[in-house]
Amino acid sequence: MLVSSQYSPNMSKSDFEVIADIAHQEAGLVFTQEKASLVRSRINRRLLKLGLNSFSEYISLIKSHQGEDELKLMISSLTTNISSFFRESHHFELFAKTTFPPLLSFARAGGRVRIWSAGCSTGQEPYSIAMTMFSIAPDMGNLDIKILATDIDANVILTAKTGFYPETDMESVSKNYLNKYFKYTKDETNEGYLVDREIRNLITFRELNLLRDWPMKRHFDVIFCRNVVIYFDEETQLALWTRFENVAAPGGWLFVGHSERLPERLNTRFQNVGPTTYRLPLGSEALEKAE
Ligand SMILES: C[S@@+](CC[C@H](N)C(=O)[O-])C[C@H]1O[C@@H](n2cnc3c(N)ncnc32)[C@H](O)[C@@H]1O
Repeated sequence: MLVSSQYSPNMSKSDFEVIADIAHQEAGLVFTQEKASLVRSRINRRLLKLGLNSFSEYISLIKSHQGEDELKLMISSLTTNISSFFRESHHFELFAKTTFPPLLSFARAGGRVRIWSAGCSTGQEPYSIAMTMFSIAPDMGNLDIKILATDIDANVILTAKTGFYPETDMESVSKNYLNKYFKYTKDETNEGYLVDREIRNLITFRELNLLRDWPMKRHFDVIFCRNVVIYFDEETQLALWTRFENVAAPGGWLFVGHSERLPERLNTRFQNVGPTTYRLPLGSEALEKAE
């Protein structure tokens, strides 16, 4: 068992390659040799926690049957979870002005509307979508409009579910939204802002690896997958865009991150309809949802 929390064993080039390979196989994440020190410091925290003395022992553990849970924790330690409310705000402006109104009319006429925040991290993205919808339609709770928010990382899903954020996270939230949709709370251990229950109720949070099976049966009218695929290799990105195309409803929208694009060679039915914004053509079944 290790005593010093400062202990930091050496990670050989081959240890790094094995870990990078597993991260790629498991989650699509790409770590080049330049990222070795980042990987080393993140995995080292796991070694310390487990009281292991070497990366090779750690590798044996995650490769073993008993190491399944640790493998998840390793992936979780390697993901980048930065997020913020109303990040890339132009998406929320377009969503409010163009995407949502026809979907709202459709829902008010009894239709079902589904939105997916894929790679939702600590929840700021799906909550921003929910607040945007609620500000337009305070009757949201009575309509069949739901957001599914997923991430590979069980830790971020836990945080997202609580809907509790420190004051520093509120910088990108307008005063109006802060007053309307958050409650300030403070006790001996915590101080921050809790998202209102009505907003939280619109979202279902789930752990989901985008590289594995998707159990969802229904199509999505809107998919947000932003700042997730930048960590993937090109082949994995292309496969994912195609899978999104297959689960998007006719006329469905796809919002991607500021440095992400659907390349020409993908030959997708998604059409570029704005900065980092894509849409499928409207099929005949979607006419009721048409603007
Ligand atoms: C930088 S955050 C983006 C959060 C949010 N979409 C935004 O733009 O603010 C990227 C998220 O993608 C998740 N992620 C990475 N690989 C994934 C995978 N294979 N399946 C599902 N989520 C993944 C990470 O856990 C992380 O929370």
